[in-house]
Amino acid sequence: MCGIVGYAGPRRAAPILLDGLKRLEYRGYDSAGIAIGQPDGLASVRRVGKIQVLKDAVPKDMAGAWGIGHTRWATHGGVTEANTHPHCDASGKIAVVHNGIIENYRALREMLVKEGVAFKSETDTEVIPNLVAKYYNGDLEAAVKAALAHLEGTYGIAVIHADEPGRIVGARNGSPLCVGVGDGEMLLGSDVMAFISSTSRVVYLNDGEVVALTPSGFKITDRSDRSVDREADAVTWELGAIEKDGYPCFMEKEIFEQPDSIGRALGGRLDQENATAKLGGLNLDRRYQRAVSRVNVIAAGTSWHASLVGTQLLESVARIPAQAELASEVRYRNPVVESGSLWFAVSQSGETADTLYAMREIQRKGANVLGICNVVGSTIARESDGGVYVHSGPEIAVASTKAFTSQLAAFYLFTLHMARMRDMSRAEGERFLAALAGVPDKVRLALAARDRIQAIAKKYSRCRDFLFLGRGLLYPIALEGALKLKEISYIHAEGYAAGEIKHGPIALVCPEVPSVFLVADDPLREKVISNIKEVKARGGPVIAVGVEGDAELEAIVDDFIPVPKMDCRFYPFTMVVPLQLFAYFCALELGRDVDQPRNLAKSVTVE
Ligand code: M6R
Repeated sequence: MCGIVGYAGPRRAAPILLDGLKRLEYRGYDSAGIAIGQPDGLASVRRVGKIQVLKDAVPKDMAGAWGIGHTRWATHGGVTEANTHPHCDASGKIAVVHNGIIENYRALREMLVKEGVAFKSETDTEVIPNLVAKYYNGDLEAAVKAALAHLEGTYGIAVIHADEPGRIVGARNGSPLCVGVGDGEMLLGSDVMAFISSTSRVVYLNDGEVVALTPSGFKITDRSDRSVDREADAVTWELGAIEKDGYPCFMEKEIFEQPDSIGRALGGRLDQENATAKLGGLNLDRRYQRAVSRVNVIAAGTSWHASLVGTQLLESVARIPAQAELASEVRYRNPVVESGSLWFAVSQSGETADTLYAMREIQRKGANVLGICNVVGSTIARESDGGVYVHSGPEIAVASTKAFTSQLAAFYLFTLHMARMRDMSRAEGERFLAALAGVPDKVRLALAARDRIQAIAKKYSRCRDFLFLGRGLLYPIALEGALKLKEISYIHAEGYAAGEIKHGPIALVCPEVPSVFLVADDPLREKVISNIKEVKARGGPVIAVGVEGDAELEAIVDDFIPVPKMDCRFYPFTMVVPLQLFAYFCALELGRDVDQPRNLAKSVTVE
């Protein structure tokens, strides 16, 4: 969603802010702007559309060594230049960029209008610079704090004042914000991407904190105005990891990175000696773990699909009752939190508002919530009671791919760990471990079907509706395949449990609606074959993702995509790969913006 960048230092701010905004593009946005402090006041440029449009509009030699920038994902008010951030107060001396939603903005706006303020936008944000102006008395930090006392809702903000050169005040409540600590310069960002080309030292803010920064340092204060001492963390992501590396877009690069990213998720966690998995970050003693009687998982979107696989696996392999739920539902349904239940919050970004708020609610009820996150230092990672980093490396494309397979890896590791504490024998542990260690190579082999998948995508990309069907562990993969296709190609797709089609969806089957079936060589294979025959009998085209060498399957379907043979519990890793590639090539065929699909944001930080 929206992104924030700020810079104060000796260099020209404009190119640094524009570079930061470019790197924040992946979050999803529809307009962008910058405001820069100059000797004669603030200069601001805002544009609807891509960062390149803004870049073209910013004078090449724009002076000024401190400023703020923003990518806006519209919530309040349409996608117009007037609604684009930064927003200024009526005098034009104070500029603000804001992520989040000010819930009581209408009342504040009415109050300010009565005091003579003329508003220029439809946004909730514009009340902030005007409130700061109302309290400004020569000290920007004090005025921001006074203004914050009136705000209800969520915010990450950055504020500058024309009369306070080199100073930026930031504040966080529900929307992430962090400081980039440079040498003789300071930066601010909604995430580390905003400043990763300038520094790899970061200080994360917590909710309720305010930061005042200048080129030489920064000062954080908490809700009670006490000063907070916090050391900088090192950003472990390399700049190279956020480049396209010769690929036409990030999504393709990230799909092809999966053998390595899964390898990183497994790295150092396969305990051959004890035929189990080592997960150092769980922060739970063995007796507690042994007594866990239920696992509940909360997540959204693709992370929820990984959780559906994970919970099925926990039940069938570790024999622990387990359930995955949509975070947006859990939060509002007053869930029963039993003693003995262990909760997980699963999130690539670690910032998804639905997941974060659901996690806090569960913690309030007294349960331990572990995180499965990719982004180190993200809010869910920091606020959870322990957990597993999946180490995918930065995932830039809005459609999640490599983070999904790494989340699967985390669940497989956790399942092995829990199963070996219970009834799984050493011999079975060794088999599971060997299969898990072999996953990166199997995924590499699955990727070899690239060209065949591209040809199949070309053949079907003009269809308007698709069904994705699987059973057991492959049912969540069918959901994921349908989500990928919808997200980036805008083709309507539905994921179903294959056994469910006769209860309704089969009515959709006709020559114009292809069905994509996932068929493993497992005990459910014959049943899925029957489902395929039901579809074929009604004239529906069938694409099957199946096991290499399955001639019987290949003979009855229109198009066949092979994955290598493996232990059938591990097919979710390989069978998702052709679905990712299929969605990707359909989107390319249709000329879509694959990395930044319309209306979507990478990290969904509002409800
Ligand atoms: O960062 P998270 O994993 O919490 O994000 C959850 C969903 O917003 C995310 O998976 C979304 O569905 C992706 N666009 C899927 O490709």
